[in-house]
Amino acid sequence: MKALAAFATGARGTGKTAWCKQWIKASGSKRVMVWDYKHDDGLSDVGKAYADWAAFVAACTRPQFTARYLVSPDHDPHEQFEAFCRLAWREGNLLMFVDELAEVTKANKAPPAWRKCVNVGRSYDNGTKSLSILAASQRPPEVDKSFLGNCDVIHAGRLGYASDARQLAAMWGIQPKELATLPDLHWIEKRADAPEVARGVLSFSRKKPAVKPAKTRP
Ligand SMILES: Nc1ncnc2c1ncn2[C@@H]1O[C@H](COP(=O)(O)OP(=O)(O)OP(=O)(O)O)[C@@H](O)[C@H]1O
Ligand SMILES: [Mg+2]
Repeated sequence: MKALAAFATGARGTGKTAWCKQWIKASGSKRVMVWDYKHDDGLSDVGKAYADWAAFVAACTRPQFTARYLVSPDHDPHEQFEAFCRLAWREGNLLMFVDELAEVTKANKAPPAWRKCVNVGRSYDNGTKSLSILAASQRPPEVDKSFLGNCDVIHAGRLGYASDARQLAAMWGIQPKELATLPDLHWIEKRADAPEVARGVLSFSRKKPAVKPAKTRP
């Protein structure tokens, strides 16, 4: 399977994290590392959570795992992110999901280990290792350019800044207003291998059957 890089963007609450969860599931990846920057309730059902770094590292050496690192608010997030990316690189053959990417990268500044994962991770160690990368952030210009440029898929919900909507719309040949006015959970997506954008609405399958309406008395 090709190691893909994908990016989800959009204002808060537009469905980025929810879409990433569906992406992870659809990928069928048996080895998943998650960077849970804000200890997101929405990620609570994604693998096992680790606040302890050593335990997280141990989990990521297993043949199969979905391990979610709860970024420590008491330590420098940049140092933690560098360690997270180095671990992903060392282990290889996994999907790494970085939520809230803008907290650890800037448009013109990618941490070295992240840059290596992004630029070289498609295939390395004589083709024996690869990294699939998934990241989410509210604004594209807050994310490092080499990641954006390397993405196979860019998935956008409503963009709150007019300049963000203009930029993406110009790249995609659509009207900025469309990106600026998408309702929550509505999205527009561009795949590098497709000439046109796709549009859709995020939906959630119910695990349990819907609650039946109470019976009315005769
Ligand atoms: N399993 C679910 N079933 C129904 N609705 C859901 C489910 N998961 C998420 N949602 C809805 O999706 C909305 C978007 O949530 P999500 O956490 O994906 O936003 P986000 O774009 O990541 O926002 P933020 O930038 O604040 O992280 C939530 O407000 C919630 O209503
Ligand atoms: Mg989110």
